[in-house]
Parts: sequence; C-alpha cells; structure tokens
Amino acid sequence: MTFPPSQNRAKQSNYSVLLCIHILFFILSTRVSAQSSPVFACDVKSNPGLSNFTFCNPAAEVGKRVEDLVGRLTLQEKIGFLVNSAGSVSRLGIPKYEWWSEALHGVSYVGPGTRFSSLVPGATSFPQVILTAASFNVTLFQAIGKVVSTEARAMYNVGLAGLTFWSPNVNIFRDPRWGRGQETPGEDPLLTSKYGSAYVRGLQDRDDGDKERLKVAACCKHYTAYDVDAWKGVDRYHFNAVVTQQDMDDTFQPPFKSCVIDGNVASVMCSYNQVNGKPTCADPDLLAGVIRGQWKLNGYIVTDCDSIDVFYNSQHYTKTPEEAAAKALLAGLDLNCGSFLAKHTEDAVKAGLVNESVIDRAIKNNFATLMRLGFFDGDPSKQLYGKLGPKDVCSSENQELAREAARQGIVLLKNSKGSLPLSPTTIKTLAVIGPNADVTKTMIGNYEGTPCKYTTPLQGLTALAATTYVPGCGNVACSSAQVDDAKKIAASADATVLVMGADQSIEAESRDRIDIFLPGQQQLLITQVANASKGPVILVIMSGGGMDVQFAKDNDKITSILWVGYPGEAGGAAIADVIFGFFNPSGRLPMSWYPQSYTDKIPMTNMNMRPDPATGYPGRTYRFYKGPTVYTFGDGLSYSSYNHKLVQAPKLVSFPLEETHVCRSSKCKSVDVVEESCQNLAFDVHLRVKNTGKMGGGHTVFLFSSPPSVHNAPQKHLLGFEKVFLEPQTEGLVRFKVDVCKDLSVVDELGSRKVALGQHVLHVGNLKHTLNVWI
Ligand SMILES: *[C@@H]1O[C@H](CO)[C@@H](O)[C@H](O)[C@H]1NC(C)=O
Ligand SMILES: *[C@@H]1O[C@H](CO)[C@@H](O)[C@H](O)[C@H]1NC(C)=O
Ligand SMILES: *[C@@H]1O[C@H](CO)[C@@H](O)[C@H](O)[C@H]1NC(C)=O
Ligand SMILES: *[C@@H]1O[C@H](CO)[C@@H](O)[C@H](O)[C@H]1NC(C)=O
Repeated sequence: MTFPPSQNRAKQSNYSVLLCIHILFFILSTRVSAQSSPVFACDVKSNPGLSNFTFCNPAAEVGKRVEDLVGRLTLQEKIGFLVNSAGSVSRLGIPKYEWWSEALHGVSYVGPGTRFSSLVPGATSFPQVILTAASFNVTLFQAIGKVVSTEARAMYNVGLAGLTFWSPNVNIFRDPRWGRGQETPGEDPLLTSKYGSAYVRGLQDRDDGDKERLKVAACCKHYTAYDVDAWKGVDRYHFNAVVTQQDMDDTFQPPFKSCVIDGNVASVMCSYNQVNGKPTCADPDLLAGVIRGQWKLNGYIVTDCDSIDVFYNSQHYTKTPEEAAAKALLAGLDLNCGSFLAKHTEDAVKAGLVNESVIDRAIKNNFATLMRLGFFDGDPSKQLYGKLGPKDVCSSENQELAREAARQGIVLLKNSKGSLPLSPTTIKTLAVIGPNADVTKTMIGNYEGTPCKYTTPLQGLTALAATTYVPGCGNVACSSAQVDDAKKIAASADATVLVMGADQSIEAESRDRIDIFLPGQQQLLITQVANASKGPVILVIMSGGGMDVQFAKDNDKITSILWVGYPGEAGGAAIADVIFGFFNPSGRLPMSWYPQSYTDKIPMTNMNMRPDPATGYPGRTYRFYKGPTVYTFGDGLSYSSYNHKLVQAPKLVSFPLEETHVCRSSKCKSVDVVEESCQNLAFDVHLRVKNTGKMGGGHTVFLFSSPPSVHNAPQKHLLGFEKVFLEPQTEGLVRFKVDVCKDLSVVDELGSRKVALGQHVLHVGNLKHTLNVWI
C-alpha cells in the first residue's frame, strides 16, 4: 500500500498543480488540526434533532441503525461512503471520516487518518513484526496489540487518529528476497495464524467483554498470495500469482481464515496482484465466496490503495472504468482505498452495470463497523475509552513492553564456548563497529510511527561498558569498508560487537532484494575486524529477511551471531541486555535463511511451495524445501540447555468410520475430513521439559509432525508451540491437545482436507514418536 501505481507518476505536468493544492490543503489542515477533539457522528448535544434518528440510537441493533441510515441517503451521498476519505452529510450530523490509519507495530503516521503533533509527539514503537514473531509468545502478541489500541484510542480522543487500522500483515514470508517480509510473522502458516488472530484480538477486544463492539478495528492484509513487490522488472501492480489450489489452501489462506474466524477481525484487505489471472479485488469467489460466504466476515472488505485503479489502468482487466467499479463491488468489495469508486460508480449505475442495492450492501458493512466502534454513539468522552488521552501514550509500562518484546524476539544463532554472555565484571572495554551500531530509524522498520524515544545499540552497550565506536561503512550499502580504524579498536578492546545488516534502502515495500548476501563490503569488514580482535567477536545482524552468513557461521574468530530483526525504539537496550546476560535469549527464527545459491536457482515469481523433481525446483520453506540452509525455521540458542521427555502420547489413533465406508473394503491412502467421524477425535501429548543449565530462561517447545508421504504432504509441519519459562534445574509439563482432523490432516491436490492413514512421526527437538493412524 501507500504508493500509487507507476503510470500515475508519469503525469508530470499535473504534478505542480497537485503540489499547490497539497500546500493549500496543508495550510488548511494545520488550521483544522488545532482542534483537539475527536471526529464523531450523532452529536446530539449541538444538534438535538439527531436524537430522533434510529441510527443515532446506541441502544438500537446495529442492523436496524444501518438500515435506517442508508434509507436516508441519496445515491450520490452513498457513493461518498465507498472511499477511504469518506464524505460528510451535515443534515444527518455525519462528519468526514478518514478510514486509512496504520498500526503494524505501534500507532503509525503512514496513512492520512493519523498524525503526531505537539500534543502527542510520538507513540510506543514495538519491534518490527518479524522479530516479535520470533518470540513465539502468543500472550506477548496480544499484549502488544492491546497497548497499541490503547494508544490509538488515546490519540483518537484528541483528534489525532482514526478508529480503523489496516494492520496486521499476515502474508506468508515465502521468499527471503521479499522487501515486506519484515512486516510479517514469517514463513509458517500456524505461527502466522496465531500471530494474526492474537494481534487482532489485542487491537479489537474491549475490556468490558462486549463482543459486538470494537476498541479499534483491525484489518488483515493483503488478501491473497501477495508476496512479490518489485523483483527484476516484475512488480506487484502487474504480477499474476499462479497458485495451485493445494498451496492456496494449506499455505496462503490459513492466516486470513484464522484472522476472520479466530480473531473476528473487522476487515480484510484485497491485494494488488492477480491470483490465477484475476485481480483479487475483482474476484467474487475470493471475496463474496470465501471471506464473506465461508468465513462469515463481520466487517468490511477494503482494497489496497488503489487496487481498482491498478487492475483497470495497469492490468487492463476491464475495458472501461465503469466496468472496473462494477466488478469490484459485485465481487464483494465494500470500501475503496483511493478515489476510483467515487469517480466511476455513478456512471456504472447509470449504465446498468451495478445496482444501487449492491452499493447499499457495501456501505452497510462500512457503517456497521463504524457503529461497532461507537462513531455513531455521540460524544466519545462518555464512552468506555473516552478518558484515555496523551498521558496514556508512551507510558513507562508501554515503553518497557517494547523493550521486553525485543528481548523476547532476539535470536542467538551461534555461541562458541566462552563467548556470550559477556561478563560486565571482566569486559571493561568494548569495540562497537558497524553501519547499524548507532542507528535510530533503522530500528523501527517500515509502517512506523514517531517513537517515544530511541536507545541505539551503541547507547545500550555504553550504559554497561566503556565503548569505542567506528561505523566502518558509510551506510549499510557499504560500497567501501574502512577497515583500518575498525581493526585498531577491535585489537585493543576486551570484546567486539559488530552491528551489521540492512535497512529500508536494502529491503522495503516496492524493493525486493536480488541477492541475500550482507550488502556491499560488510563481509570484508566483519572478517577483517574478527581477525584483528583481541576478545570474543559478536556479530549482530539487524534485518528483516535472512542473510547468507555462512562465512560467519564457519569462521571460528566470530564467536557469536545474534539476529535482532528491526528491534523497535528500545532495540539497543534489549541487545545490550542479551549480550551482557541480563536476559537469556529465547527467540527462534520464524523464517529459514538460505545460501545465495538458492536465489540463483529460484525465480521469486514461482509461487509453488512444493518441489518439482522434474525441473529441479526445490520448493519453499522448512515444510517443503530439502536443500541446504544457513539457518532454518525454529533455530535459536539459549544460555541454558533444555531437555524434553515424552510423558504421554498415543501410539495408535483409529478412525471411527461407518461399516459401509468405502475405505473399509478397499485400501485408502487417506480419509476425508468429514465432520461426523472427526468429532472429538483428539488426543493429548504431554512433555516434561527441564532447564538443565545455570540460567533461568524462556523456552519454546515446538510440536512438529511428519505425515505419511501422500498427496505431496509437507515433509514436516508445525502442529503447535508453547513457550514456558523455567528457572535453572527446574522442570515443567507442557501439554498439547492434538485434534486429529484439524491438526494432523493435510490438504490434497484439489484443496480438500484429508487425514493420511499410516505412520505420522511427531517430533519435539530430537525426540521422535511414531503414531499410527488407522481405520
Ligand atoms: C423528535 O420527534 C418528536 C415526535 O416526532 C417531536 O415531537 C420532537 O420535536 C422531535 N425532537 C426534536 C429534537 O427534533
Ligand atoms: C439489477 O436489478 C434488476 C432488478 O432486480 C435485475 O434484473 C438486474 O439483473 C440487476 N442488475 C445487476 C447488474 O445486478
Ligand atoms: C589475520 O591476521 C593475521 C595477522 O594478524 C594475518 O597474517 C592473516 O592473513 C589474517 N587473515 C585474514 C583472513 O585476514
Ligand atoms: C510471554 O510474554 C508475556 C508478556 O510479555 C510475559 O509476561 C511472559 O513471561 C512471556 N512468556 C515467556 C515464557 O517468556
């Protein structure tokens, strides 16, 4: 989102006019922004007549209120409610509302609905999502969402924010080159589903338990199979993702399904790309069929900005703009980020391409969402969150949670004996080197807001030891490394910390990578500094996507490697906490790290998850890929060690099929997941987990399963994960409930869920347990 399609940029002559309008608008809007009260409808205090309207009655049913409101609008007025900068109807007491706000990992200034001012100069900036996901802590995911929605409501109350936030991003991080992988929870559908639904609940759920009303409205995006931004001349505005039904149903769709069904999300955003030849925002099967029909979305479907313009102007999917408008609305779309529907819907109606009743359906979904948010309930200060204000933004608790989230996410990838943690008593001097060692904005990634404050890695480390600092490269691109000064400080310090990696100039929206090496001469700098260092060498990689750091893994002089994602406003403090052992690292990689050779072999545009032996295509993610990796999904070390013992798990699960079932007389490879025979077919897996080390720490227990190899099933997939905290030399019991038809099933070639018959191997760490599923 955010960027207009490329052909609009060509219209240079209009640009200066636009600029003038923008400047004028800016002057006007800064005047307006002097207001510090929220935007809301049904202000009965200043207009008592409004109290007679059913739509203004908070006690009436949402359905009735919406019906009443839509019945009072003209066609032109209705069309004004189909776009993100929604219209106003003063005779009905409805002010303008801006739908577009963002809150990916903190309240963001991206999107015109939210901004900062002297009243609220910043908001808590949590780590970029890929790092938070690495914590594998579902409680944390929801806790962050809850803080973000509190800060968002506080900002709404002083006229600085909207109520509708287009976050989270639940696309699967399928290819390490994707510039937006940083925004996602990684490559695994289960982790992504758990992250998405928990973050949505954190944003939306109210403290009074009222399920119908919303604290703020979240939005799961970008629906669907969207994960190519701009790679070797292919861009998202033109890309047609060719996806098999099988990959669709067991990889790309599950996070969206979980958002709607488990998270009860108020919105889904359709993407720019096509899926199998149809723009997602014009596909009635994907929108009306799946999201609204099968999953029963309670909320609105919105376009990316502006997907309709993109499928008309860039993809030439329809002959006329009116057809494009009609196709989107008829597919089930409710709101257009952009202005396409404002411009072309009336003519589409006049041409008979779409009926007014379809527009009614769309705006009813939009209004219903605003009603659930209290927008039509009059004065917000009288409502549940009406007392929140600037004091609730950037509170010390909220900022502490940002630091805690970064600590919980940081992944220790390599740790030679005697390296980490550094002892504050023996390490008196620290050489801090690298283009990311003293960065601020780099730490908050994209879809960011102005943070409360920053602690850079250098500041975090300097608080704990005497430091010397040399950047070593002019910026992360590091076209020429300056090694001499860096070597000098490394040679005399007790330990060396190199903070390297990427930033938005390397991987970003509209910027996919071509190679996955550390940029420029970073490798040269690292190797030379490591060789010259007196003490342990800690390589810190700040990045969204994985890097080919095989050279560092193999180099004995580099004694530790940490991956810190983009760790948010308190990232530097969290890095220092981990390096000096004030926090025991417990993060695990949410995505695999490949060698550079992977990118030479695989075009980013090949969406297939499964390997193809005929072409040598190796498949994608730990679920299917069999080739070499530098690090893989779930990797991550601790300063402690943990062992697992299986306490309880069945050896046999039998399927209660009817006597007449075809699989009773002939041999079947798998059985359909039919509700009847699946009901209550579940079992428990209990594990005893012991911290055998000297330091207390968090530990994530992963339960994987390798199903029998039928239907091109994954070689391995995650059934569940549970994070526990264990004091040294103590143990805990971890319980998983495995639902046979939900968790042990695989999707077949046609997209149907099947339980494979035969041996399923459950894995936890090195532990393996064979389970026979039979009839
Ligand atoms: C509301 O409606 C009632 C009955 O129609 C009318 O008597 C009253 O004046 C109206 N109130 C306002 C504030 O318009
Ligand atoms: C519009 O409504 C009329 C009458 O119900 C119906 O016959 C027609 O097919 C509808 N047109 C579209 C494009 O839905
Ligand atoms: C490491 O340093 C030594 C001298 O201290 C030098 O002889 C050697 O070539 C260096 N190795 C590398 C890989 O730079
Ligand atoms: C998960 O996160 C929550 C919230 O920060 C925290 O209280 C809890 O201790 C974490 N769990 C583990 C096992 O680290």
